[in-house]
Amino acid sequence: MADTDHNAPLGVFDSGVGGLTVVRALMDVLPNESIVYLGDTARLPYGSKSPETIRKFAVEDTQFLLSKGVKAIVIACNTATAHALPLLQGQFQLPVIGVLQPGVEAALADPHCQRVGIIGTSGTIKSCAYQHALAMRRPDLQIQAVATPLLVPVIEEDWIDHPATKMIVREYLKPLLKHGMDTLVLGCTHYPLLKPLLARMLNNRVRLVDSALVCAEQVKVMLMERGLLRVAKAKPKLDIFLTDLSEQFESLAKRFLRADFGKVQRVSL
Ligand code: DGL
Repeated sequence: MADTDHNAPLGVFDSGVGGLTVVRALMDVLPNESIVYLGDTARLPYGSKSPETIRKFAVEDTQFLLSKGVKAIVIACNTATAHALPLLQGQFQLPVIGVLQPGVEAALADPHCQRVGIIGTSGTIKSCAYQHALAMRRPDLQIQAVATPLLVPVIEEDWIDHPATKMIVREYLKPLLKHGMDTLVLGCTHYPLLKPLLARMLNNRVRLVDSALVCAEQVKVMLMERGLLRVAKAKPKLDIFLTDLSEQFESLAKRFLRADFGKVQRVSL
């Protein structure tokens, strides 16, 4: 990598709006970094697709970000991390960081946790990546994982406070509440957008864990270790590309990121 590349942007991708939860954390932890974000909205959701298809999409997303000159890739999608992280790390020269291991670290940050619930897309839950990674570190944990495939569409629709969303969440939480849990891992980067609703429905009694902050901290350590921190004085930029434009994306992004971004651009991969 050329010497000047430390001023290049970070590349971040997800299937849609969910990866913005990671972008928000990156902006908080690394305020001087520029970011190129790709939301593959035309092919969302990833969570119901086969592992082969998810790997193909993840390679194409990475190739697009590379064409924008990024210095590292953050897979801001649990489904793509679960199925494609080793592939991307093997296939591309630049550093690639996923959200799953950071999610595990965040869950285990409280050494007293005993009963852990996990929610995620069907692809993530079926991969058992979270279940295995948690059990490897803490074989004594009681783990219950539930696929919650309807949550990504309602979030992308900006139905964050809609009564239908409450009904869906209540239904999904039933087996987890029966199991009893002290910790709930939000195993999809879309789900932090539902944190206030989940906290209310769980009477603030369950620790809600997501990977965004720990992921951003890991990206910072990686950039520092490799001498890749941006040093340019000009204001960093956030460029957003989507494979299909949606009004909700822009309004959610504005509400959630509380940051300026230029016109969202449509791209074909
Ligand atoms: N936000 C993504 C994840 O973390 C993908 C959701 C989807 O497209 O199904 O899994």
